[in-house]
Amino acid sequence: MSFKALFTFATLAVASLAAPSHTKRATCAGGRTTAHASCCVWFDVLDDIQENLFDGGECGEEVHESLRLTFHDAIGFSPKLFLQGKFGGLGADGSIMAHSEIETAFPANLGVDEIIEVQRPFAIKHKVSFGDFIQFAGAVGVSNCAGGARIPFHAGRLNVSSPSPDLLVPEPSDSVDTILARMGDAGFSPNEVVDLLISHTVAAQDNVDPTIPGTPFDSTPNSFDAQFFVETLLKGSIAPGNGTNRGQSLSPIPGEFRLTSDFLLARDARTACEWQSFITDHASMVSKFEKVMDKMSTLGQIRALLTDCSDVIPVPKVALTKTPTLPAGRSLADIESACRATPFPALTADPGPVTTVPPV
Ligand SMILES: *[C@@H]1O[C@H](CO)[C@@H](O)[C@H](O)[C@H]1NC(C)=O
Ligand SMILES: *[C@@H]1O[C@H](CO)[C@@H](O)[C@H](O)[C@H]1NC(C)=O
Repeated sequence: MSFKALFTFATLAVASLAAPSHTKRATCAGGRTTAHASCCVWFDVLDDIQENLFDGGECGEEVHESLRLTFHDAIGFSPKLFLQGKFGGLGADGSIMAHSEIETAFPANLGVDEIIEVQRPFAIKHKVSFGDFIQFAGAVGVSNCAGGARIPFHAGRLNVSSPSPDLLVPEPSDSVDTILARMGDAGFSPNEVVDLLISHTVAAQDNVDPTIPGTPFDSTPNSFDAQFFVETLLKGSIAPGNGTNRGQSLSPIPGEFRLTSDFLLARDARTACEWQSFITDHASMVSKFEKVMDKMSTLGQIRALLTDCSDVIPVPKVALTKTPTLPAGRSLADIESACRATPFPALTADPGPVTTVPPV
């Protein structure tokens, strides 16, 4: 799509969405209330995906994958390409689902085809746009995790999109310079890159080492806690699968996977202090994640044309039962702390035999 075509597209968007329904608080079928009548459909989507996508409201594999998809759709947005007169993608526009045959062939999107195919029928059934659905599912999913966040949700993205250009999704094998430059182009500061990586507290790898799909990035992949930020700073010595693959660094604990990008960002002077800060401040971790995900979820979109349906997202119900610790068998001497301004917090190790992460 050319630059000129993009503007035609934007004009159409304004025309068709010129009168968003900012009416009084609405009561939806079933008695639940929301700020805008047009948000009612999302309660139906909510009930359906909690039951049939997230296995009754769990924080499991589908949540990990749905959260990953929010990023892979949204980050397809490059003001730099537009400045060069090229089409730079329209961000969180659902293009990864609408044009999955093109975008899932991009190397960085390896494996996201699975969750796209699982999600697509839900979006079609409820007649909501692909772009809205992807961000909604990610927000609902995170609300299921213990200690989880309540990510704002705005509805009204068009269901029409063009494929994102390739090479906009950062890869785990990229250098910190490359990652910060790409993310900076999309509008994120180095601290905000770390804030987005809070997602890795409830995440796992499938394709970096395809011999061990579902290997998590921390020992508590179903809890929205700060263990990820502790464990990524431990010395690594283990290859949990078939060796060290591209984008993989040695893990500190059996059954855990470490991405090279996480290893590097945890230790880089530009990002290390934000990284370490979450270990002692869960409230800040949650609020920064909500803020940065809100920003990411409308990347490339015109926010004024969207309707705030955030009140449909559930309030996370399950609280965390423990603060971050060192895995059993480890001591502070195993920590490669990199924040010069603040010492690493005086954590103690879990009791018992050496921590290993069971396969999921
Ligand atoms: C969105 O577009 C897809 C094709 O990309 C179509 O299958 C789906 O029905 C559309 N949904 C709506 C709500 O128009
Ligand atoms: C691990 O296995 C995969 C799939 O068979 C292969 O592509 C990859 O090269 C292997 N990695 C190493 C480090 O041997």
